[in-house]
Formats: sequence, C-alpha cells, structure tokens
Amino acid sequence: MPNDPADRAAGTPAGPAPDSAAGRARRITVQRRGPLLVEGPVEIELEDGSTVFSDRFRVALCTCRRSRRYPWCDTSHRRRS
Ligand code: FES
Repeated sequence: MPNDPADRAAGTPAGPAPDSAAGRARRITVQRRGPLLVEGPVEIELEDGSTVFSDRFRVALCTCRRSRRYPWCDTSHRRRS
C-alpha cells in the first residue's frame, strides 16, 4: 500500500527525496566501517534520555561504540581492535 506509514518509515529504495514545505530532507550518509554522517544541526537523544546538540553543518555519529566522545565519532573506529 503506497501510503502505509510503515512503508514511509522504511523509506523508498530509489529516487530523490521529495522537497517539503519545511525544506529538503536531511541527508544521512551511511558508511560500512565508520560513522553516520548527518547534516546538522542535530539534537541527539541518548539511551538515558539526555540530549546533546551540535550546530555543525555535518556531524559524525559513532556507530562502533569505541568513541571516547560518544555519540560523536572521534575516529577510534580506525584503530585495530
Ligand atoms: S564510528 Fe568513529 S569512533 Fe566510532
């Protein structure tokens, strides 16, 4: 069903993101071995319910959990084990 909310949440596999009245869609770049690159500014809600904020134009979110500055990537993912 094309307008099913579950389908919209899962995203569409191809094609450009639509523009909206609020502006264009925020871009998140996925890398196989590295952080998620997210267009800022961003507010991140952590597991404990606290929030952190960055007003940078692009932020790197740690996906490996090795960062000493989690949730921000500090390039610790580059270290060998
Ligand atoms: S992804 Fe870079 S430190 Fe975790």
